[in-house]
Amino acid sequence: MKFNFSESVNRMKTSEIRELNKMASTPGLISLGGGMPSPETFPKKDLEEIMDYVMENFADLALQYGNTLGNDGAREVISGMLRKTEGIDTAMKNIIINSGSQQGLYELATVLANPGDTVITEEPTYVGAVSAFSANMLRMEGIEMDHQGMIVEKLEEKIKKLIGEGRNPRFIYVIPTFQNPTGYTMPEERRRVLIEISEKYNIPLVEDNPYGQLRYYGKPVNSIRSMRGGENTIYLGTFSKVMTPGLRLGYTVAPDEVMEKFNLIKQALDLATNSFSQYVALEYVRRGVIYSQIEENKKIYRVKRDRIVSALKENMDGMATWSEPEGGMFVWATLKGDIDTRMMRESAFKNGVAYVSGQAFTTNGTQRSSMRLNFTFGTPDQLEEGIKRIRKTVDSYIGKK
Ligand SMILES: Cc1ncc(COP(=O)(O)O)c(C=O)c1O
Repeated sequence: MKFNFSESVNRMKTSEIRELNKMASTPGLISLGGGMPSPETFPKKDLEEIMDYVMENFADLALQYGNTLGNDGAREVISGMLRKTEGIDTAMKNIIINSGSQQGLYELATVLANPGDTVITEEPTYVGAVSAFSANMLRMEGIEMDHQGMIVEKLEEKIKKLIGEGRNPRFIYVIPTFQNPTGYTMPEERRRVLIEISEKYNIPLVEDNPYGQLRYYGKPVNSIRSMRGGENTIYLGTFSKVMTPGLRLGYTVAPDEVMEKFNLIKQALDLATNSFSQYVALEYVRRGVIYSQIEENKKIYRVKRDRIVSALKENMDGMATWSEPEGGMFVWATLKGDIDTRMMRESAFKNGVAYVSGQAFTTNGTQRSSMRLNFTFGTPDQLEEGIKRIRKTVDSYIGKK
Protein backbone atom coordinates (compact mmCIF):
# COMPACT_ATOMS: atom_id res chain seq x y z
CA MET A 1 0.00 0.00 0.00
CA LYS A 2 1.21 3.50 -0.73
CA PHE A 3 0.61 5.95 2.09
CA ASN A 4 -0.47 9.47 1.33
CA PHE A 5 1.08 11.84 3.83
CA SER A 6 -0.31 15.12 5.05
CA GLU A 7 0.88 18.39 3.64
CA SER A 8 2.15 19.44 7.08
CA VAL A 9 4.39 16.42 7.58
CA ASN A 10 5.58 16.52 3.98
CA ARG A 11 6.78 20.06 4.57
CA MET A 12 8.74 19.15 7.69
CA LYS A 13 12.46 18.44 7.42
CA THR A 14 14.65 16.20 9.56
CA SER A 15 16.55 18.33 11.97
CA GLU A 16 20.33 18.45 11.81
CA ILE A 17 20.31 17.94 15.58
CA ARG A 18 18.44 14.66 15.32
CA GLU A 19 20.92 13.43 12.71
CA LEU A 20 23.69 14.47 15.02
CA ASN A 21 22.26 12.60 17.97
CA LYS A 22 22.60 9.42 15.90
CA MET A 23 26.33 10.11 15.50
CA ALA A 24 26.81 11.01 19.16
CA SER A 25 28.01 7.52 20.08
CA THR A 26 30.80 7.51 17.46
CA PRO A 27 33.98 6.63 19.42
CA GLY A 28 36.25 9.60 20.04
CA LEU A 29 33.78 12.18 18.70
CA ILE A 30 33.50 15.35 20.75
CA SER A 31 30.00 16.65 20.35
CA LEU A 32 29.42 20.35 20.84
CA GLY A 33 26.25 19.83 18.87
CA GLY A 34 23.35 18.57 20.97
CA GLY A 35 21.63 20.65 23.59
CA MET A 36 21.92 18.17 26.39
CA PRO A 37 22.51 18.89 30.05
CA SER A 38 25.39 17.03 31.65
CA PRO A 39 24.40 13.77 33.38
CA GLU A 40 26.66 14.81 36.29
CA THR A 41 24.00 17.44 37.09
CA PHE A 42 21.21 14.89 37.40
CA PRO A 43 20.24 14.77 41.08
CA LYS A 44 20.34 10.96 41.11
CA LYS A 45 20.45 10.38 44.87
CA ASP A 46 17.70 12.89 45.63
CA LEU A 47 15.51 11.52 42.86
CA GLU A 48 16.00 7.96 44.06
CA GLU A 49 14.89 8.95 47.56
CA ILE A 50 11.96 11.00 46.25
CA MET A 51 10.81 8.21 43.92
CA ASP A 52 10.81 5.74 46.83
CA TYR A 53 8.84 8.24 48.90
CA VAL A 54 6.30 8.74 46.11
CA MET A 55 5.83 4.99 45.68
CA GLU A 56 5.44 4.46 49.42
CA ASN A 57 2.99 7.29 49.95
CA PHE A 58 1.21 8.12 46.71
CA ALA A 59 1.47 5.05 44.48
CA ASP A 60 -2.27 4.79 43.82
CA LEU A 61 -2.41 8.35 42.51
CA ALA A 62 1.05 8.55 40.97
CA LEU A 63 0.35 5.48 38.83
CA GLN A 64 -3.13 6.65 37.84
CA TYR A 65 -4.32 9.00 35.05
CA GLY A 66 -4.09 12.58 36.25
CA ASN A 67 -5.86 15.90 35.67
CA THR A 68 -5.49 17.33 32.20
CA LEU A 69 -3.98 20.61 33.41
CA GLY A 70 -1.68 18.81 35.83
CA ASN A 71 -1.41 17.71 39.44
CA ASP A 72 -2.74 20.50 41.69
CA GLY A 73 0.07 20.13 44.22
CA ALA A 74 2.70 20.30 41.49
CA ARG A 75 1.03 23.36 39.94
CA GLU A 76 0.99 25.01 43.36
CA VAL A 77 4.71 24.45 43.96
CA ILE A 78 5.55 25.63 40.43
CA SER A 79 3.66 28.83 41.19
CA GLY A 80 5.80 29.29 44.34
CA MET A 81 9.02 28.49 42.47
CA LEU A 82 8.22 31.00 39.71
CA ARG A 83 7.64 33.68 42.33
CA LYS A 84 10.98 32.89 43.96
CA THR A 85 13.26 32.46 40.94
CA GLU A 86 11.57 34.61 38.27
CA GLY A 87 9.52 37.13 40.23
CA ILE A 88 6.45 35.84 38.38
CA ASP A 89 3.18 36.22 40.19
CA THR A 90 0.72 33.60 38.95
CA ALA A 91 -2.08 31.58 40.45
CA MET A 92 -1.88 27.83 40.09
CA LYS A 93 -5.03 27.90 37.91
CA ASN A 94 -3.00 29.65 35.22
CA ILE A 95 -0.41 26.87 35.00
CA ILE A 96 -0.63 23.78 32.79
CA ILE A 97 1.96 21.03 33.17
CA ASN A 98 3.09 19.52 29.90
CA SER A 99 5.24 16.72 28.62
CA GLY A 100 8.20 19.09 28.27
CA SER A 101 7.87 22.70 27.23
CA GLN A 102 8.15 21.31 23.70
CA GLN A 103 4.57 20.10 24.03
CA GLY A 104 3.62 23.55 25.28
CA LEU A 105 4.96 25.04 22.04
CA TYR A 106 2.88 22.65 19.98
CA GLU A 107 -0.21 23.42 22.03
CA LEU A 108 0.07 27.15 21.65
CA ALA A 109 0.69 26.88 17.92
CA THR A 110 -2.54 24.85 17.61
CA VAL A 111 -4.54 27.09 19.92
CA LEU A 112 -3.43 30.54 18.75
CA ALA A 113 -3.17 30.20 14.98
CA ASN A 114 -4.69 28.55 11.92
CA PRO A 115 -2.74 26.75 9.20
CA GLY A 116 -1.21 29.35 6.91
CA ASP A 117 -1.13 32.07 9.58
CA THR A 118 2.04 34.01 10.26
CA VAL A 119 4.00 34.07 13.50
CA ILE A 120 7.11 36.02 14.37
CA THR A 121 10.29 34.47 15.76
CA GLU A 122 13.83 35.53 16.40
CA GLU A 123 16.25 34.76 13.58
CA PRO A 124 17.95 32.37 14.41
CA THR A 125 15.54 30.54 16.69
CA TYR A 126 15.01 27.26 18.56
CA VAL A 127 14.73 24.32 16.15
CA GLY A 128 12.01 22.64 18.21
CA ALA A 129 9.82 25.75 17.91
CA VAL A 130 10.27 25.62 14.14
CA SER A 131 9.11 21.96 14.23
CA ALA A 132 6.10 22.71 16.41
CA PHE A 133 5.07 25.67 14.28
CA SER A 134 5.68 23.84 10.98
CA ALA A 135 3.67 20.85 12.15
CA ASN A 136 0.79 23.30 12.58
CA MET A 137 1.50 24.74 9.12
CA LEU A 138 2.36 28.19 10.42
CA ARG A 139 4.44 30.61 8.37
CA MET A 140 7.41 31.97 10.29
CA GLU A 141 8.92 35.40 9.84
CA GLY A 142 12.29 35.75 11.55
CA ILE A 143 13.53 39.04 12.95
CA GLU A 144 17.25 39.71 12.92
CA MET A 145 19.03 39.75 16.28
CA ASP A 146 22.05 41.55 17.66
CA HIS A 147 23.85 40.68 20.89
CA GLN A 148 20.88 42.16 22.79
CA GLY A 149 18.35 39.83 21.20
CA MET A 150 15.60 40.58 18.69
CA ILE A 151 16.08 44.03 17.11
CA VAL A 152 12.83 45.73 18.06
CA GLU A 153 12.99 48.40 15.33
CA LYS A 154 13.10 45.65 12.72
CA LEU A 155 10.26 43.91 14.50
CA GLU A 156 8.02 46.94 14.20
CA GLU A 157 8.91 47.43 10.53
CA LYS A 158 8.09 43.80 9.84
CA ILE A 159 4.78 43.95 11.69
CA LYS A 160 3.70 47.02 9.69
CA LYS A 161 4.67 45.28 6.45
CA LEU A 162 2.83 42.08 7.35
CA ILE A 163 -0.29 43.97 8.42
CA GLY A 164 -0.13 45.85 5.10
CA GLU A 165 -0.16 42.49 3.32
CA GLY A 166 -3.12 41.28 5.38
CA ARG A 167 -0.94 38.83 7.30
CA ASN A 168 -1.50 39.99 10.89
CA PRO A 169 0.96 38.00 13.04
CA ARG A 170 -0.74 35.71 15.57
CA PHE A 171 2.02 35.88 18.16
CA ILE A 172 5.65 36.88 18.72
CA TYR A 173 7.85 34.06 20.01
CA VAL A 174 11.02 35.02 21.90
CA ILE A 175 13.63 33.32 24.08
CA PRO A 176 14.88 36.52 25.70
CA THR A 177 17.29 35.02 28.24
CA PHE A 178 20.38 33.04 27.16
CA GLN A 179 18.72 32.36 23.85
CA ASN A 180 18.97 29.05 22.03
CA PRO A 181 21.01 29.09 19.80
CA THR A 182 22.88 32.38 20.36
CA GLY A 183 23.22 32.70 24.14
CA TYR A 184 22.16 36.38 23.84
CA THR A 185 20.05 38.06 26.52
CA MET A 186 17.67 40.92 25.86
CA PRO A 187 18.18 43.79 28.34
CA GLU A 188 15.25 45.17 30.30
CA GLU A 189 14.95 48.41 28.24
CA ARG A 190 14.49 46.41 25.07
CA ARG A 191 12.00 44.07 26.76
CA ARG A 192 10.00 47.18 27.64
CA VAL A 193 9.92 48.26 23.98
CA LEU A 194 8.93 44.73 22.95
CA ILE A 195 6.03 44.86 25.38
CA GLU A 196 4.98 48.28 23.99
CA ILE A 197 5.01 46.91 20.44
CA SER A 198 2.97 43.91 21.52
CA GLU A 199 0.39 46.29 23.11
CA LYS A 200 0.38 48.73 20.19
CA TYR A 201 -0.33 46.07 17.56
CA ASN A 202 -2.30 43.78 19.84
CA ILE A 203 -0.11 40.74 19.25
CA PRO A 204 0.46 38.32 22.16
CA LEU A 205 4.02 37.65 23.30
CA VAL A 206 5.26 34.12 23.94
CA GLU A 207 8.25 34.04 26.30
CA ASP A 208 10.15 30.75 26.32
CA ASN A 209 12.53 30.61 29.26
CA PRO A 210 14.21 27.22 29.72
CA TYR A 211 17.60 28.71 30.69
CA GLY A 212 16.80 31.71 32.90
CA GLN A 213 17.53 29.83 36.13
CA LEU A 214 21.07 29.09 34.92
CA ARG A 215 22.85 32.43 35.27
CA TYR A 216 26.63 32.25 35.85
CA TYR A 217 27.52 35.94 35.65
CA GLY A 218 25.95 39.37 35.78
CA LYS A 219 22.73 40.72 37.20
CA PRO A 220 19.42 38.92 36.58
CA VAL A 221 17.10 40.54 34.05
CA ASN A 222 13.40 40.47 34.82
CA SER A 223 11.31 38.07 32.77
CA ILE A 224 8.84 39.65 30.36
CA ARG A 225 6.02 37.87 32.19
CA SER A 226 7.04 39.43 35.51
CA MET A 227 7.36 42.91 33.95
CA ARG A 228 4.06 42.80 32.16
CA GLY A 229 1.76 40.66 34.26
CA GLY A 230 -0.34 37.87 32.84
CA GLU A 231 -2.80 39.48 30.44
CA ASN A 232 -1.12 39.21 27.07
CA THR A 233 1.91 37.03 27.69
CA ILE A 234 2.31 33.29 27.58
CA TYR A 235 5.31 31.97 29.49
CA LEU A 236 6.97 28.58 29.09
CA GLY A 237 9.35 26.93 31.53
CA THR A 238 10.82 23.48 32.08
CA PHE A 239 12.40 21.09 34.57
CA SER A 240 14.69 19.73 31.84
CA LYS A 241 17.71 21.88 32.66
CA VAL A 242 17.35 22.03 36.45
CA MET A 243 16.29 18.46 37.25
CA THR A 244 16.33 16.07 34.27
CA PRO A 245 14.90 16.13 30.74
CA GLY A 246 14.17 12.40 31.03
CA LEU A 247 11.07 12.90 33.19
CA ARG A 248 9.69 15.21 30.44
CA LEU A 249 8.17 18.01 32.48
CA GLY A 250 7.50 21.54 31.36
CA TYR A 251 4.85 24.11 32.14
CA THR A 252 3.02 26.98 30.49
CA VAL A 253 1.63 30.02 32.28
CA ALA A 254 -1.28 31.65 30.45
CA PRO A 255 -4.40 33.79 30.97
CA ASP A 256 -7.69 32.05 31.92
CA GLU A 257 -9.25 32.05 28.46
CA VAL A 258 -6.12 30.52 26.90
CA MET A 259 -5.96 27.87 29.65
CA GLU A 260 -9.44 26.70 28.67
CA LYS A 261 -8.22 26.06 25.14
CA PHE A 262 -5.02 24.39 26.34
CA ASN A 263 -7.20 22.05 28.37
CA LEU A 264 -9.03 20.97 25.20
CA ILE A 265 -5.95 20.47 23.07
CA LYS A 266 -4.04 18.67 25.83
CA GLN A 267 -6.84 16.09 26.04
CA ALA A 268 -6.38 15.42 22.36
CA LEU A 269 -2.62 15.11 22.70
CA ASP A 270 -2.15 12.80 25.68
CA LEU A 271 -5.04 13.29 28.16
CA ALA A 272 -2.58 14.36 30.84
CA THR A 273 1.14 14.54 31.60
CA ASN A 274 2.89 11.60 33.30
CA SER A 275 1.49 11.51 36.86
CA PHE A 276 4.53 9.88 38.41
CA SER A 277 6.90 12.54 37.03
CA GLN A 278 4.66 15.24 38.42
CA TYR A 279 4.67 13.74 41.91
CA VAL A 280 8.45 13.56 41.74
CA ALA A 281 8.71 17.22 40.67
CA LEU A 282 6.27 18.23 43.38
CA GLU A 283 8.53 16.75 46.06
CA TYR A 284 11.66 18.03 44.35
CA VAL A 285 10.38 21.59 44.61
CA ARG A 286 8.55 21.21 47.93
CA ARG A 287 11.69 19.96 49.67
CA GLY A 288 13.72 22.79 48.13
CA VAL A 289 16.11 20.36 46.41
CA ILE A 290 15.63 22.32 43.19
CA TYR A 291 17.24 25.44 44.65
CA SER A 292 20.42 23.70 45.80
CA GLN A 293 20.56 21.79 42.51
CA ILE A 294 20.33 25.03 40.51
CA GLU A 295 23.34 26.33 42.48
CA GLU A 296 25.20 23.07 41.87
CA ASN A 297 24.45 23.18 38.11
CA LYS A 298 25.62 26.78 37.94
CA LYS A 299 28.93 25.86 39.58
CA ILE A 300 29.56 23.06 37.10
CA TYR A 301 28.45 24.98 34.01
CA ARG A 302 30.28 28.21 34.89
CA VAL A 303 33.60 26.33 34.71
CA LYS A 304 32.64 24.84 31.35
CA ARG A 305 31.46 28.16 29.96
CA ASP A 306 34.76 29.75 30.95
CA ARG A 307 36.72 26.92 29.37
CA ILE A 308 34.99 27.10 26.00
CA VAL A 309 35.29 30.89 25.89
CA SER A 310 39.00 30.78 26.72
CA ALA A 311 39.54 27.99 24.16
CA LEU A 312 37.86 30.17 21.54
CA LYS A 313 40.12 33.09 22.49
CA GLU A 314 43.22 30.92 22.23
CA ASN A 315 42.32 29.16 19.01
CA MET A 316 39.94 31.29 16.98
CA ASP A 317 41.11 34.83 17.58
CA GLY A 318 40.85 36.81 14.33
CA MET A 319 39.05 33.93 12.58
CA ALA A 320 35.68 34.19 14.23
CA THR A 321 33.51 36.17 16.61
CA TRP A 322 31.48 34.52 19.35
CA SER A 323 28.98 35.27 22.09
CA GLU A 324 30.16 35.18 25.70
CA PRO A 325 26.89 34.25 27.40
CA GLU A 326 26.26 35.01 31.06
CA GLY A 327 24.26 31.80 31.37
CA GLY A 328 22.48 29.00 29.57
CA MET A 329 24.04 26.29 27.45
CA PHE A 330 25.26 27.74 24.16
CA VAL A 331 27.92 29.86 22.49
CA TRP A 332 27.21 31.17 19.00
CA ALA A 333 30.32 31.47 16.86
CA THR A 334 30.49 33.16 13.47
CA LEU A 335 33.42 32.50 11.16
CA LYS A 336 34.97 35.31 9.17
CA GLY A 337 35.07 34.98 5.42
CA ASP A 338 32.60 33.12 3.32
CA ILE A 339 32.62 29.74 5.06
CA ASP A 340 29.48 27.62 4.94
CA THR A 341 29.44 25.77 8.26
CA ARG A 342 26.90 23.25 6.97
CA MET A 343 29.28 22.26 4.17
CA MET A 344 32.16 22.13 6.65
CA ARG A 345 30.36 19.73 9.02
CA GLU A 346 31.61 16.63 7.21
CA SER A 347 35.27 17.69 7.57
CA ALA A 348 34.68 18.59 11.21
CA PHE A 349 33.21 15.17 11.78
CA LYS A 350 36.27 13.54 10.21
CA ASN A 351 38.37 15.60 12.62
CA GLY A 352 36.32 14.24 15.53
CA VAL A 353 34.12 17.20 16.41
CA ALA A 354 30.45 17.98 15.86
CA TYR A 355 28.51 21.24 16.03
CA VAL A 356 25.20 22.44 14.64
CA SER A 357 25.38 24.78 11.66
CA GLY A 358 23.74 28.20 11.86
CA GLN A 359 21.36 27.41 9.01
CA ALA A 360 19.69 24.72 11.12
CA PHE A 361 18.16 27.49 13.24
CA THR A 362 16.62 29.46 10.42
CA THR A 363 13.76 29.06 8.02
CA ASN A 364 15.40 31.03 5.24
CA GLY A 365 18.98 29.78 4.86
CA THR A 366 20.70 32.71 6.59
CA GLN A 367 23.37 32.32 9.32
CA ARG A 368 25.56 30.29 6.95
CA SER A 369 28.86 31.15 8.62
CA SER A 370 27.66 30.57 12.18
CA MET A 371 27.60 27.53 14.41
CA ARG A 372 26.05 26.68 17.75
CA LEU A 373 28.42 25.26 20.32
CA ASN A 374 27.01 23.54 23.37
CA PHE A 375 29.20 23.75 26.45
CA THR A 376 27.20 21.83 29.06
CA PHE A 377 27.56 18.24 27.87
CA GLY A 378 31.31 17.77 27.37
CA THR A 379 33.98 17.85 30.07
CA PRO A 380 36.08 21.05 30.20
CA ASP A 381 38.99 19.20 28.55
CA GLN A 382 36.74 17.90 25.80
CA LEU A 383 35.43 21.41 25.18
CA GLU A 384 38.94 22.73 24.74
CA GLU A 385 39.93 19.85 22.48
CA GLY A 386 36.69 20.30 20.50
CA ILE A 387 37.54 23.93 19.77
CA LYS A 388 41.08 22.93 18.72
CA ARG A 389 39.56 20.45 16.30
CA ILE A 390 37.27 23.13 14.89
CA ARG A 391 40.31 25.35 14.36
CA LYS A 392 42.09 22.53 12.57
CA THR A 393 39.00 21.96 10.43
CA VAL A 394 38.73 25.62 9.46
CA ASP A 395 42.44 25.74 8.57
CA SER A 396 42.23 22.75 6.27
CA TYR A 397 38.87 23.84 4.88
CA ILE A 398 40.20 27.28 3.92
CA GLY A 399 43.26 25.61 2.39
CA LYS A 400 40.99 23.42 0.32
CA LYS A 401 38.73 26.18 -0.98
C1 LIG B 1 14.28 27.34 23.75
C2 LIG B 1 13.78 25.99 24.11
N1 LIG B 1 12.47 25.80 24.31
C3 LIG B 1 11.97 24.61 24.63
C4 LIG B 1 12.80 23.51 24.79
C5 LIG B 1 12.17 22.19 25.10
O1 LIG B 1 12.52 21.70 26.33
P1 LIG B 1 11.72 20.55 27.07
O2 LIG B 1 10.69 20.01 26.13
O3 LIG B 1 12.74 19.55 27.44
O4 LIG B 1 11.09 21.21 28.24
C6 LIG B 1 14.18 23.65 24.60
C7 LIG B 1 15.08 22.50 24.73
O5 LIG B 1 16.23 22.51 24.50
C8 LIG B 1 14.69 24.92 24.25
O6 LIG B 1 15.98 25.14 24.04
